[in-house]
Amino acid sequence: MIRITLFNHAQDTPGTTIEAKPGHSLMKAAVSADIEGVAADCGGTLTCATCHVMVREPWLSQLPAMSDDEDGMLDFAACTRQANSRLSCQITLTEAMDGMQVDLPASQY
Ligand code: FES
Repeated sequence: MIRITLFNHAQDTPGTTIEAKPGHSLMKAAVSADIEGVAADCGGTLTCATCHVMVREPWLSQLPAMSDDEDGMLDFAACTRQANSRLSCQITLTEAMDGMQVDLPASQY
């Protein structure tokens, strides 16, 4: 299993650690775990940007480069994109991502 810890924008909690299997998207793992802050309105079809997350290093550098479509859709995220912004529906989990930490934006709308 792959463990991922998600931190809310306020950073007022220790973070929530979820578990997922390789091959699942980070978005699906978060939604399945009822993580508040990952809305994923389009279900992963890359048309909503409500699955916006910020991936911490060293995991960010290990992710495959984002596609042009992901890059373009991030411009529509409700909160201003950061240098480490990604759309979680486009992150396919692998064993190498075990322990990954991501921050959630203040809002997805
Ligand atoms: Fe809609 Fe990721 S779930 S873009």
